Amino acid sequence: MSVDAKDFKQAMRQCAGAVALVTVGAEHGKRTGLTVTSACSLSDNPPSLIVCVNRNASAHARIREEGAFAINFLHEDHALLALTFSGQKGVNGDDRFAFGQWTSGVTGAPVLIDAAAAFDCVLAQEFETKTHSIFVGEVRGVSHLASVAPLVYLRSNFHTPQEMREAVALGDLDARHLSWTDFS
Ligand SMILES: Cc1cc2nc3c(=O)[nH]c(=O)nc-3n(C[C@H](O)[C@H](O)[C@H](O)COP(=O)(O)O)c2cc1C
Repeated sequence: MSVDAKDFKQAMRQCAGAVALVTVGAEHGKRTGLTVTSACSLSDNPPSLIVCVNRNASAHARIREEGAFAINFLHEDHALLALTFSGQKGVNGDDRFAFGQWTSGVTGAPVLIDAAAAFDCVLAQEFETKTHSIFVGEVRGVSHLASVAPLVYLRSNFHTPQEMREAVALGDLDARHLSWTDFS
């Protein structure tokens, strides 16, 4: 039995995802990147993450060429960056780096200076699927900011955990009697 894409997407809309930018390119003028919610940790030994990148995304071929990329998790003030790197602002490739503050990681990949958490990775493995590649990144550099609220994508909107919590508390009478730990 197969499930159609519409039902799949409808169900995925109910799943909150941490918003990140996958960035690649040591040379100015040749950088690119995209917005993702498919990045997650793989292991702490060796420290590594995975991310699923559409083969049509401009960063896909560049990640293979460079053998390195960064995963920059965004915070509440980065919604415009998320829109820009998702191609929704008509800004492409290296021009996207006119937005945000960037430095170069030890691998040469562009790293967002004020990311909630940034992971500078070498490409360790790639698993090709029908439309996307699962890239495995082994971490060579890491930074984080503990004081910021992370950016989350849920039901086609960008939120922070605080906003999501208030929505739950206000929206559902029963929820008032549940503490947040009941959800985690
Ligand atoms: C919230 C959000 C999450 C996304 N997650 C992914 C993802 O995990 N993998 C992916 O390949 N594209 C994802 N996309 C789509 C890409 O960001 C978009 O297609 C981008 O324009 C691709 O880069 P390009 O324009 O340089 O080809 C996401 C878009 C949004 C708005």
